[in-house]
Amino acid sequence: MLTTPTRSINLKTEVPGPQSRALHQRRTQAVPGGLGNATQIGVARAHGALIEDVDGNTLLDFVGGIGVLATGHTPLAIVEAVQQQAAEMLHLSALVGTYEPYIALAERLNALVPITGPNKTLFANSGAESVENAVKIARAATGRPAIIAFEGGYHGRTLGTLSLTSKYGLFKKQFGPFLPEVYRAPFPYVYRLGGDEAQAVETTWQAFERVLVAHVDPSDVAAIIIEPVQGEGGFLPVPAEFMRRLRAIADRHGIVLIADEVQCGFGRTGTLFAIEQTGVEPDLLVSAKSLAAGLPLSAVTGRAHLMDAPHLGGIGGTYGGNPLACVAAIKVIEQIERDNLCQRAQGIGGIIRERAAQWQREIELIGDVRGLGAMLAIELVRDRVTQEPAVEETLAVVKRCVEHGLLVMRAGLYSNCIRLLTPLVITDEQLHEGLDVLGDALAHVGQQMINP
Ligand SMILES: Cc1ncc(COP(=O)(O)O)c(C=O)c1O
Repeated sequence: MLTTPTRSINLKTEVPGPQSRALHQRRTQAVPGGLGNATQIGVARAHGALIEDVDGNTLLDFVGGIGVLATGHTPLAIVEAVQQQAAEMLHLSALVGTYEPYIALAERLNALVPITGPNKTLFANSGAESVENAVKIARAATGRPAIIAFEGGYHGRTLGTLSLTSKYGLFKKQFGPFLPEVYRAPFPYVYRLGGDEAQAVETTWQAFERVLVAHVDPSDVAAIIIEPVQGEGGFLPVPAEFMRRLRAIADRHGIVLIADEVQCGFGRTGTLFAIEQTGVEPDLLVSAKSLAAGLPLSAVTGRAHLMDAPHLGGIGGTYGGNPLACVAAIKVIEQIERDNLCQRAQGIGGIIRERAAQWQREIELIGDVRGLGAMLAIELVRDRVTQEPAVEETLAVVKRCVEHGLLVMRAGLYSNCIRLLTPLVITDEQLHEGLDVLGDALAHVGQQMINP
């Protein structure tokens, strides 16, 4: 049942409508089928937390370009700054010369990351590309080959990062062989390890220590890479105690600790970087997504002596740190600070958690609600005791939400989580309106599961 009047969502046709379906049909002819797409909606324009599709329907966006739009679609100050920069210089390449926005943004990030300086920053275009750079930097700095990554981790789709990424069937099938010297440790997935965080940390830590005996010696390990909140894995925050133990073991053995904050960084979790909430300093931090409001930009920021390890010419690329993207990112940081978007992320998270707790009491389908700040996921199960993943039901919830004007997307090792990544500029009214649609879809699908 809808509990607030619909104000933002305005549907003039069914969703996806005829124009969307026609565009999608062209897509199937022109673009390879391996490029996944969560919906068949064709989008004409977008602003704030709203998108307008090619049929003239207005939908609420709880996906935010997969966590890219903390500052919302087309934020005015950012658009204006990018337009101005476009008229002055579209591209130079940092391999050719120096332009002020690249340096200004590097200086800002060096000061903002939770790493005691001096720090340095290298820019690239995508999250995957910066993860690749972080691995190269760690290898060059330590002279060691091995990398430890985690079950459920996602670090990108290039061949190097795919080697670090987990979830074989969806991401890795047919693309091997992958990088050697990548070792995988279990992740403290509290919900699926019995629900007790301290116990989950103990179990997972024992497994981690076993990896260092049975699979690789610490003296061969260049880096441990971890998402402080796993994204594609299902929005699983790393317990602070587990992160502290990683830090301690990295210190003991001279291993580089890399925080992959591509999805959880830039205000999403209620602090600029999620790892801040564990009190642990990484050595290198990778950011992307909401860093530049939709322009392709990613960064590796970290301790200067590590960042300086690669030889001259060993890192960089034609486009990395493009002037438009750097200008956008400088404005993103300004907006996050000016509008207190980290605090707003906490507020959004609070509202969602309250509504979701009520749903969880009423709807058996909901196994777990978790996350940090405004990075929240709802895990759906067919049975709360066996925790059998409700995969088809998750798809059905997404489909019903989209049909009713709310964009949501799946996540999770078992593809059974609804992930919520609303723009942080969403209003309370819009948030509740979207949550009404989501609650209705969960109740509907949950009811169908009971009475198929
Ligand atoms: C934690 C994490 N790392 C890396 C990536 C890869 O980023 P990109 O898709 O920009 O290559 C992603 C993308 O979702 C991510 O969530």
